[in-house]
Amino acid sequence: MLKKNSPCLPLFIKEGDRGSSYKAYDLTKRMQAVLPRPIMDLIKYIGRMAEKEGLASFAVGGMVRDILQGLRNFDLDIVIEKDAIKFAELLTKKLRGTLVVHRKFGTATIYTDWPKGVLAPPLAGPKLKIDLATARRERYERPAALPTVEFASLKEDLYRRDFTINAMAISLTKENFGQVIDFFEGIRDLKMRRIRALHAKSFIDDPTRIFRAIRFEQRLSFKIDPYTENLIREAVGKKMFDKTGDQRIRDEIILILKEREPYKALGRMDELDELEVIHKDIRLNKRVEKMFISCYDNYLWYVRHFPERRPLDLYVMYLMALTDMLSLRDVETLCERFVFRRSDRLRLISYKKCGQGVLKRLGKQGIVKASKIYSLLKPLSHETILACLARAENKLVTRRIKAFIKRYGDISIHMTGHDLMAYGLKAGPHFKDILGKILAAKIDGMIATRKDEREYLRKLVH
Ligand code: CTP
Repeated sequence: MLKKNSPCLPLFIKEGDRGSSYKAYDLTKRMQAVLPRPIMDLIKYIGRMAEKEGLASFAVGGMVRDILQGLRNFDLDIVIEKDAIKFAELLTKKLRGTLVVHRKFGTATIYTDWPKGVLAPPLAGPKLKIDLATARRERYERPAALPTVEFASLKEDLYRRDFTINAMAISLTKENFGQVIDFFEGIRDLKMRRIRALHAKSFIDDPTRIFRAIRFEQRLSFKIDPYTENLIREAVGKKMFDKTGDQRIRDEIILILKEREPYKALGRMDELDELEVIHKDIRLNKRVEKMFISCYDNYLWYVRHFPERRPLDLYVMYLMALTDMLSLRDVETLCERFVFRRSDRLRLISYKKCGQGVLKRLGKQGIVKASKIYSLLKPLSHETILACLARAENKLVTRRIKAFIKRYGDISIHMTGHDLMAYGLKAGPHFKDILGKILAAKIDGMIATRKDEREYLRKLVH
């Protein structure tokens, strides 16, 4: 078990850090300030439970980084010495959660209900996720010298991670609860606001980290340090991406687009020649930038006006902006290569297929019936429509699209196929046509009430 004043303690924060913005080595108070009580209780519970099993446990990764900065992060990423999977099985039972095990990696993920009183962050899933990883002990010599070995295995685990700021741990063992463990000067890098890889092979081990470096740099307003930037350039030059699963790259692209200022991050990717990993013809220029800004403005407009509707996937709109200069074929290939989810793929391709045509038709001068606008826009997703809106260069188009979203998007008629049968019509595919005509009349303001619909039907069939 991890003991206070063990020989490894000097590896904690260095003396020079005393009196800095990280006032104490003990982060308990900061954790209490940053984390809601139920999450804090859960973390303590995990620590106590591991201890009962004779195991040391540590919170690691993004949560530690964020707590040190006074930021909230509910990503419970726990390292357990010995066997995380066995421990995860026990914990799952206690939490009445569900368990996903990755035996090959000695890791497990528990999904459990969000504790009462905790408001899940906007992008979090419906369940609280607890990741557990094993710090392998058996690799080390002198297995009897427990504290050293535990530290060695923890150190090994942390050393395999991406950046120094993500490679710190907080002890969850009761005696040392809240103690921050910083082998690689992560705290110094946090203070100096820099992203530094842990070792020269970091991006070769895992090229998706090239994207992560930029994501953290932009999100935290840090700077990738020159040593790390060189490693990134080297990995891009060696085409390390070709060896990485494309789905993992896709996830990283989406994560970048979900950040607060994705365009800035893309600009940085461009500087480091990373954009070509997505597609060789992707270029950032004034037009793409303008479209990114408009996508965001339109997104805000939509959310303000229709808070009750399905939340929009802003990242899909950004993907449309980013791939705007590519051909339909290129976008189809890109969707296949990165295995975009079906719904994302359909939206991206529909924007590519219909966007230009829709804009052209909506830009037609003179009277264009509301029902015509409806028939153009109704088959498209709201993301596709708003990306068209972002692309629109004339006011007439903007007005027509907004009128559709505000007034006609949700319009419906009372009449159904049953009513048509009750009226004495024989059921068949022509019902769709008849109901469509009644809807068009309503959209064009020719009819309004249920009675009007019936009257209109009578005129249609006689
Ligand atoms: N990690 C890594 N290499 C990767 C991905 C993750 O070393 N390619 C490690 C890092 O230590 C990271 C931790 O795994 O902190 C958890 O990963 P993840 O949840 O993806 O990242 P966070 O750092 O928590 O970032 P975010 O705040 O965006 O969730």
